[in-house]
Amino acid sequence: MLLGTQRVNDAGHLEIGGCDTVELAKTFGTPLYVVDEALVRENCRKYTEVFGKRYKGDVRISYASKAFLVQAIAAVVNEEGLDIDVASGGELYTALSVGFPPENILYHGNYKSDEEIELGIAKGVGRFVVDNPHELRRLSRIATGHGIVQPILIRVTPGIDPHTHRRIRTGQEDSKFGINVSDGSALEAIKEALTLPGIDLRGIHCHVGSQLLDTQSHTDAIDVMVEFLATVKSETGKSLPELDLGGGLGVRYLEHHEPPSYEAFAETLCAALDAAFEKYGIETPALLLEPGRSLVAEAGTTLYTVGQAKKVNIVEEPGTRTYVAVDGGMSDNPRPQLYDAVYRCLVANRADQPRDQIVTVAGKHCETDILIWNTPTGVIGEGDVLAVQTTGAYNHAMASNYNRFRRPAVVFVQNGHADVVYERETLDDLLRQDRMPARLQSS
Ligand SMILES: Cc1ncc(COP(=O)(O)O)c(C=O)c1O
Repeated sequence: MLLGTQRVNDAGHLEIGGCDTVELAKTFGTPLYVVDEALVRENCRKYTEVFGKRYKGDVRISYASKAFLVQAIAAVVNEEGLDIDVASGGELYTALSVGFPPENILYHGNYKSDEEIELGIAKGVGRFVVDNPHELRRLSRIATGHGIVQPILIRVTPGIDPHTHRRIRTGQEDSKFGINVSDGSALEAIKEALTLPGIDLRGIHCHVGSQLLDTQSHTDAIDVMVEFLATVKSETGKSLPELDLGGGLGVRYLEHHEPPSYEAFAETLCAALDAAFEKYGIETPALLLEPGRSLVAEAGTTLYTVGQAKKVNIVEEPGTRTYVAVDGGMSDNPRPQLYDAVYRCLVANRADQPRDQIVTVAGKHCETDILIWNTPTGVIGEGDVLAVQTTGAYNHAMASNYNRFRRPAVVFVQNGHADVVYERETLDDLLRQDRMPARLQSS
């Protein structure tokens, strides 16, 4: 499973973006996040192209920056002509810091503080995606105070329960996100939004879940959302001009994961939208989408240095397990702990060897932070460089300093060049926010 520009070079090493990953590990140290810039750019272009070609109305694609955000990725996404979805003051601040046009920013979040709303309004973000009636009223008050009319979408819960890990399901009714369609609360909120000062209601939003390997949840949600647009029209007389279907398309973590191609995804969604518009008598609204994982996950690879391999006897077949310890773990990738996420890896310095030996890759934290259970690697031992694939989404973004680990560096690779876009944290960085009360200083 070689992804993007990954290939095995003449030395038998894994290469990404024309860079030998063994050299990258030597030059920049490990753990190291390596991002295939060409693949990110290609994904942004393709995603925009397939929906642009197939959908009958306007399409805007926003990169969901929660998946991975450093200044460089925001700059790439902006260069590729996408909008950006932010979900906190920090994500907003980062996007603005690289000159992302505020009108191309979509501001999400189930609880935005007054301070965050003020920042978004002061900077002129294009859309707030309002999560609940309370936020709607606060936004109206703050926007009015600034003398502006803020374009918004209202996030609704379509009551779809997608087949994905329970912690990344969001479209079901029992959710902390959005306002329920089925019990009438969403319609009440829409009616209120249409009367509040400082608010320009542009449309509705939903996001059903993440890492979806088929399109069923999206097509189910489309039916509910378009029917709801029709209800809004009949109840209020207002045709909302925008429909946002969030993100959610899955990626390949393992060989047998087969998410729909971008083309198939666009075809299925657009066909379902066409059918629903006809069924409910709705004019084609602008379509907004917010892919995160599907734009960046496969472009990311994490390089680790292998410490020891340790064989233990176990009760189950085959009677032993080999734990291979690497120099990172849950601080650079908490997803296996959070979601039982699965990954594939290969020995970067012997990428051409048969993968005929099964090991369990263990992190080095004070938890049982297993990164990958029972995975085929072939021969592996001390000093090898282990490349874990598909780590471009929700890895760096979710990294922590647990056990006072330093967050790894991130390098963008393309055409044989590697640029550091996030410096490895230093030991001094770990102390930067510490303060010693005077009474403890003598100790
Ligand atoms: C509102 C919203 N939009 C978009 C996304 C991105 O989803 P994905 O990374 O699955 O494409 C998320 C993910 O949590 C989300 O909550």
